[in-house]
Amino acid sequence: MNQHFDTILKSGTVVNQDGEGVRDIGVTNGRIAAIGSLGQASAGEVIDCKGLHILPGVMDTQVHFREPGLTQKEDLETGSRSAVMGGVTAVFEMPNTNPLTVTEEAFTDKIKRGHHRMHCDFAFFIGGTRENVQDLPELERAPGCAGVKVFIGSSTGALLVEDDESLRRIFKVIRRRAAFHAEDEYRLNERKPLRIEGDPRSHPVWRDETAALMATERLVNLARETGKRIHVLHISTKEEILYLRDHKDVASCEATPHHLTMAAPECYERLGTLAQMNPPVRSADHRAGIWYGIEQGIIDVLGSDHAPHTLEEKAKTYPASPSGMTGVQTLVPLMLDHVNAGRLSLQRFVDLTSAGPARLFNMACKGRIAAGNDADFTVVDLKRSETITNKWIASRAAWTPYDGVRVQGWPVGTFVRGKRVMWQGELTTPSIGEPVRFLETLKP
Ligand code: DOR
Repeated sequence: MNQHFDTILKSGTVVNQDGEGVRDIGVTNGRIAAIGSLGQASAGEVIDCKGLHILPGVMDTQVHFREPGLTQKEDLETGSRSAVMGGVTAVFEMPNTNPLTVTEEAFTDKIKRGHHRMHCDFAFFIGGTRENVQDLPELERAPGCAGVKVFIGSSTGALLVEDDESLRRIFKVIRRRAAFHAEDEYRLNERKPLRIEGDPRSHPVWRDETAALMATERLVNLARETGKRIHVLHISTKEEILYLRDHKDVASCEATPHHLTMAAPECYERLGTLAQMNPPVRSADHRAGIWYGIEQGIIDVLGSDHAPHTLEEKAKTYPASPSGMTGVQTLVPLMLDHVNAGRLSLQRFVDLTSAGPARLFNMACKGRIAAGNDADFTVVDLKRSETITNKWIASRAAWTPYDGVRVQGWPVGTFVRGKRVMWQGELTTPSIGEPVRFLETLKP
């Protein structure tokens, strides 16, 4: 049989549920049509991937792209451009925009803004509040919705549900896995006097490890009481890792590259408020604890928590400076550098960035290189050494805390549903981003 494909990715090392090996991948109509030795087949385009690794598309399940309302920092176009430049094929975007994404109107507006304007595929979280509880069952099932997100400690923006009674009401009505920013608001308020003006080293003293652990424990208890599933975002403490190990039936969790890469106090001494994030980057023993969570399989996914602010905003004196740093573009290179340094395997990286998100959030046709799935690929050169620079960052914020950091392992290609959207540092296709499809939101 003489097969014909739209595209063949030729002779790349495919990293997959099947292990790792040199294969060709045939793509037709945006889907993976065949994997194997396709030397006899013809194709509209053959892309030589010899010497490169082809990973299932990397999905970043926590980004803040700031549109609408805060577009001096970022918008859906610039944020997603930064994503594909960094090898990311899909993002889940957060609801702390202005207006907040807490109504059907705001949610639908975001989907419209993203459609074929974003460079990668996308889903949006709906913010859970006291006011919209009764609407959440409907809202969380809108096509393109990643689920409900609740801030139980305040961060950037006005989203906050801090008390157990209101949280319980939300837990009771929702069906899907919900995502949480877990820092205990009462403790954060009590400890505010510990902030030292002009000294971001006091950030993790104020927002301490107990505030994070207390919040995570409260959420797990509520999940157990109501029989629901939770996803704890950006784990920052070794105590939460050990705690969540014993609650995997109800709770999944995320680690970020910055909590795995930076440590206090050094990061604050070197970067000042550029290292200021919620929850904070903590001491090296917490970083080691999160790595233990990666090694032991306790962490389910990596998310960048890409949270851009302009350099002018970040230049304010701590604590007036906003919390957040860019991250969507540096997730792949930083983590590949960790792979090259022997801190995790390439298979575990794939588990954390494609298989993991697909499994937790029940995505349709994403997360594995398998015939019939979307042809989303992150093509990487594991041998390439590069220096990350602000100039390379496509985010409107135009800075990275890793400016000047040399890494080994680099994203050289991004494919979204069969289209090559980035190749060797250039955007190669006009924006084609569409909503991610979830098993729980497929239309009948
Ligand atoms: O540091 C942070 N910044 N943490 C968050 O959870 C929110 C984010 C933002 O939106 O700026």
